[in-house]
Amino acid sequence: MSNYILEIENLTKDFPGVRALDDISLKIEKGEIHSLCGENGAGKSTLMSVISGVYPKGDYQGKVFYKGKETNYHSVKDSEKEGLAIIHQELALSPYLSIYENIFLGHMKTRFGIINWNYYIMESKKYLKQVGLHEPPETMVSKLGVGKQQLVEIARALSKKVDLLILDEPTSSLNDDESEKLLNLILEFKQQGITCVMISHKLNEVLKVADTVTVLRDGRSIGSYKVKEENLTEAKIIRDMVGRDLTHRFPERKSKPADTIMEVRNWSVYHPEYHAIKVVDNVSFVLKKGEILAFCGPMGAGRTELMMSLFGRSYGYRSEGELYIKGKRVELTSSKAAMKAGLGYISEDRKGLGLILIQDIKTNISNSNLEQVSNFGIINTRKEIMLAEKYRKELNIRTPSINQQARNLSGGNQQKVVVSRTLAVNPEIFMVDEPTRGIDVGAKTEVYNILNDLVDAGKSVIMVSSELPEALGMADRIYVMNEGKIKGVLTHDEASQEKIMHMALVG
Ligand SMILES: Nc1ncnc2c1ncn2[C@@H]1O[C@H](COP(=O)(O)OP(=O)(O)OP(=O)(O)O)[C@@H](O)[C@H]1O
Ligand SMILES: [Mg+2]
Repeated sequence: MSNYILEIENLTKDFPGVRALDDISLKIEKGEIHSLCGENGAGKSTLMSVISGVYPKGDYQGKVFYKGKETNYHSVKDSEKEGLAIIHQELALSPYLSIYENIFLGHMKTRFGIINWNYYIMESKKYLKQVGLHEPPETMVSKLGVGKQQLVEIARALSKKVDLLILDEPTSSLNDDESEKLLNLILEFKQQGITCVMISHKLNEVLKVADTVTVLRDGRSIGSYKVKEENLTEAKIIRDMVGRDLTHRFPERKSKPADTIMEVRNWSVYHPEYHAIKVVDNVSFVLKKGEILAFCGPMGAGRTELMMSLFGRSYGYRSEGELYIKGKRVELTSSKAAMKAGLGYISEDRKGLGLILIQDIKTNISNSNLEQVSNFGIINTRKEIMLAEKYRKELNIRTPSINQQARNLSGGNQQKVVVSRTLAVNPEIFMVDEPTRGIDVGAKTEVYNILNDLVDAGKSVIMVSSELPEALGMADRIYVMNEGKIKGVLTHDEASQEKIMHMALVG
């Protein structure tokens, strides 16, 4: 028997106008944690989709051997049967089913045609405990945040027998604390003999857990490295990813924040269903012109809910409190009213609220900007194209054409479209929720540059970020939230990871 659980030989995969994978050969050792790195659109997700049978044999050239045998999958179901599980970058749960139903969906056993629900509820508790999710199994998945949904996906993978677990950016929507738990979980799986392939843009995490790292660039494999033996560094991975060194991950800013532009007083938001629960509890803060504010805190701290409720009450059964923009009290009762008042919002949930997947890139960008691309109420296609081309260039959206449907873009490139759309609206106050989620290191810096340019031009930014280094690198001030409350505020110079974490827990 060979040492390899997976061997890929000369794999090539084309999409119309794009060679996503170009003659890739790769070996994954049994029992190792193997990380795949590469820029947005490098081909990471496509490679995993080929391996797991999302793209059936015949859809690609080259050979894949799993457990020593050449694979011939027609769908994901075939690979699942052989102990191969994939957790996709974009979550694939059924939102209106419960946690435990999602875990066992498609592999529940019946006895005389009857499913023993209680048994599965009990069983699911076992897996939920293993992944550290403390929600009742009967909870509907749509009620969970993206991070918790991620854990449900992992519980689902565990509930099947798995030998090779593929995780496509598993920590992209988790904060540091939760990420660490998840990484420990992956290390535990390794102890149990499960092989893991992990795709990630968080290079520090990659170096923490991976035994081997393979870097892809433009559909090609640039190199595979043993992390320990070869003393692999983040700088080396980045160099391979982008083909050059990358300095200044957080660019310098020239301007200083000035007068208050927005003020929130005693803002509370009530849960959409459990009306007595305050998801945001008596929050007050100020935002200055030319300032970047970051909101940090653990998952469920209420940051997204706060932003959404401020943005025209887009969340919550009801909210109370006062909102002032440029010194004037405003009542924003719809997202339209919010936009009119100068607010722009980039949602953390790009699939649900951000993008229309079956529309092309240019329509997605112009959607919220119809005035800009219209003449006398009629859409001017030329203007629409110019707008989209501008952002394609600025943010390096990788695609053969802006007429490409959004669903055909890689995850990070979809995120860039969402960012473009709000940038094009050009609001006074940008509220950005996890703006760089799933974006590669190079493109992140581009987003930071754009945010800096905005505040240099007198705009203001409120950023919700689970990546502490990002908040520390970018924000003038950091508000720390937990359990719906603001626990404290730190200036750029005072702030550190330890202080933020301590403040979130202790206040
Ligand atoms: N269904 C599709 N139709 C057309 N092109 C596609 C399709 N899926 C992927 N592509 C293209 O293939 C290339 C590789 O995409 P892939 O999703 O594998 O990138 P990735 O490395 O996972 O990037 P990210 O870090 O952004 O997730 C990209 O250029 C993408 O636009
Ligand atoms: Mg991907």
